[in-house]
Amino acid sequence: MREPLPDPALVVLVGPSGSGKSTWARARYRTAEIVSSDDLRGIVGSGRHDLDASTDAFALLDLVVAGRVRRGLTTVVDTLGLDAARREGLLRLARAHRLPAVVVAFDTPPALCRRRNAARDRPVPAHVLSEQVRALVRTDERLDDEGWDLVLRVGAGDEDVPAPAPAPAAAPARRSPLEVVLELSRFPWGEHPAAWLTGIARAAEEAGFAGIALMDHLVQIPQVAPVWEPIPEPWVTLGLLAGLDTRLRLGTLVTPVTFRPAGITAKAVATLDTITDGRAFCGIGAGWWAREHAAFGLPFPPPAERLDLLETALETMRALWSPGTKAYDGRRTVLPETTCYPRPVHDVQVIVGGGGERRTLRIAARLADGCNVPVDTAQAKAAVLRRHCEEVGRDPDEVAVTVLDLPVVGRDRDDVWERVERLRGRTPAAAYARRHHAGTAGQHRERYERLAEAGVSTVFVALPGLTGPEQLLEWRAMLPRR
Ligand code: UTP
Ligand code: MG
Repeated sequence: MREPLPDPALVVLVGPSGSGKSTWARARYRTAEIVSSDDLRGIVGSGRHDLDASTDAFALLDLVVAGRVRRGLTTVVDTLGLDAARREGLLRLARAHRLPAVVVAFDTPPALCRRRNAARDRPVPAHVLSEQVRALVRTDERLDDEGWDLVLRVGAGDEDVPAPAPAPAAAPARRSPLEVVLELSRFPWGEHPAAWLTGIARAAEEAGFAGIALMDHLVQIPQVAPVWEPIPEPWVTLGLLAGLDTRLRLGTLVTPVTFRPAGITAKAVATLDTITDGRAFCGIGAGWWAREHAAFGLPFPPPAERLDLLETALETMRALWSPGTKAYDGRRTVLPETTCYPRPVHDVQVIVGGGGERRTLRIAARLADGCNVPVDTAQAKAAVLRRHCEEVGRDPDEVAVTVLDLPVVGRDRDDVWERVERLRGRTPAAAYARRHHAGTAGQHRERYERLAEAGVSTVFVALPGLTGPEQLLEWRAMLPRR
């Protein structure tokens, strides 16, 4: 398979009349993304072929293209594209706004262009088409030297053309070692909190998610939703989900060590693991939001102390979960006994949240089973984690790399952009789409396959627009069958 076209990008079509430019564009891009000189002639002039309206149409085209490119939005310029000066201007525009610039040349056989032209309502005169065909030959020779990021050549009936957005994925998900866990960070449960939660859990199981993780905050964080939205205590909430007959893994992502003494977290996790017959995990971090600590009367020490607390917590939890009741004397904790019943019934996966390269990843390498890092830095953080593992004498394979992903998933390109527009708030659409990897299910699946190849074991998926269970079922086609 060829690499898909860059997206967003400025895509400039080049080819004579009837070479199939508009048809190609319509099959791949949204109507709003295609700026066509013919369409604009139809708007400022008497019709699509009103050549007297060309000057006005191109002025409008330049305005529309500039506006879109400045916003970082994909723009397909559907003109003959045979004017070198115009191409140069477009390329400069894309460069100025750091948008990849692609040219697509249509070397459709001239006879086919002529046949298609002849079949049209208002054919281009034969000598004009011949001149366009000759111009394409001259143009084609220089395209590679013009400085485009990509020059794509499309012939007649060329089916193997990469698309920016593959059609909605109907193909069944392949078996993959990657595990996808639903991260709940927002709880729009209306009048029926328990019913909403259990409905979500059942749908998550049916869709094929491997588990549910709950965000742990005392006040809803503004990055997710207004502070007055409900954000439930996670261990109580996980207790409710534990009572359902599912195979979902259950845990937090992540619980701050500043909220509860480590022993109490150890107790909660051990209990959850026991009542779920070994399905608990524990994401744990140093905490970061001063406001919620102040609001709940909790101390919020400086970062270095919070990282010390994280180390202490991991040591304490490990000590309490280990066999026997003997005293524990560790690097940061001394316990007179480690009597903790029930003990977890399996090796609970402890995932340290955060990508701090100097200390957080070091702590993960020493004391955790995994480390959760931002999705776009996964590969780099995995490399740093590996180095720490080697330095502290830990087998790197024992420390998983997990990521938090906040994807916008749509059925097709139109649906993707409708969702971006609905969810983006005041964030510019292009920036929002990039941050959330807005795309179709097929595109996300490919992205997850790449993450798996980069060594990521678990993707925690938080869905920005999640309101109810039915949205989770859309994920059925995307998740590895369990
Ligand atoms: P297009 O209308 O896509 O050509 O196709 P174009 O390059 O944009 O032409 P201009 O520059 O605007 O004039 C021309 C005709 O060829 C058919 C289309 O349905 C249309 O009627 N076509 C195109 C095919 O039948 N198959 C193709 O693969 C492409
Ligand atoms: Mg056209």
